[in-house]
Amino acid sequence: MSRLHSRHLLGLENVPEADISLILKTTNSFREVIDRTIKKVPTLRGITVLNLFYEPSTRTRISFELAEKRLSADTVNFTTSTSSVKKGESLRDTVQNIEAMKIDMVVVRHSSPGAPYYLTRCMDANIINAGDGAHEHPTQALLDMYTIWKKYGRLDGLRIVLVGDVKHSRVIRSNIWGLKTMGASVALCGPSTLLPYEVEKFGCDVYTDIDEALDGADVVNVMRIQLERQQSGLFPSQREYTNLFGINKQRLKLLNKNFTIMHPGPMNRGVEITSEVADSGNSVILEQVTNGQAVRMAVLYLLSGRKEEEG
Ligand code: CP
Repeated sequence: MSRLHSRHLLGLENVPEADISLILKTTNSFREVIDRTIKKVPTLRGITVLNLFYEPSTRTRISFELAEKRLSADTVNFTTSTSSVKKGESLRDTVQNIEAMKIDMVVVRHSSPGAPYYLTRCMDANIINAGDGAHEHPTQALLDMYTIWKKYGRLDGLRIVLVGDVKHSRVIRSNIWGLKTMGASVALCGPSTLLPYEVEKFGCDVYTDIDEALDGADVVNVMRIQLERQQSGLFPSQREYTNLFGINKQRLKLLNKNFTIMHPGPMNRGVEITSEVADSGNSVILEQVTNGQAVRMAVLYLLSGRKEEEG
């Protein structure tokens, strides 16, 4: 098996184990390229990629752009603030006009869940979801999984705790689907007001007590607490969140030996995680970012040149 089942990457829900394994193995080949003095291969020469970001991003946007450049693709960057979206142009008209300039692939971030799927209905390009509302952020979860897999040599059987705003986090959602497919034991932990309705349907262990959740865990992936949720009354104060759910040095004692601390960024230091933990020897936060480039190179490579009739 050397090709993915789909010509788009819209999320990890229903992506088979074979596809995730192929992406992780392909990532390994590209990971070596970014450590070279000349970090460039001709793999995507002649392919044009549009980075369509309707929402702010630091890591994902730069990571995709660097991945494309390292693969020798031509890249075009779109941001709403300098586009005709400001004059009221729709998403459909915007992408169809850009595609008329011969675009092959689109990397899209949008606040509306389902926007990447919508693009598959109105353009021929291969579509990669770079985060759509509270739905999914598949390349973030893939880079999280790759980072864990590199350290432990496996994902199956590891106990992985995802902490934070389970209700609104697209990173948590993609991690759940991907990790469960790969055989990991996934636990979710957050305030009950930030757990979605019917959370049990994810098939994960669910905790509202962080100390219970961390007991015997191998990996803790700490999510950014979205401070705007405080205004909507979903948690009472930053200080209370930090006391009840913050990952600090004391709490690390509950974890298994050789534990790993992760965070997708951007971090609120001193809120969901202390600086001491974020900068500790067990933290792989910056390694996640480096690996992200290789994961995105792998995804771009595996999807490039795939046409409609191929599925
Ligand atoms: N992790 C992540 O998606 O970061 P950005 O919002 O900076 O892209």
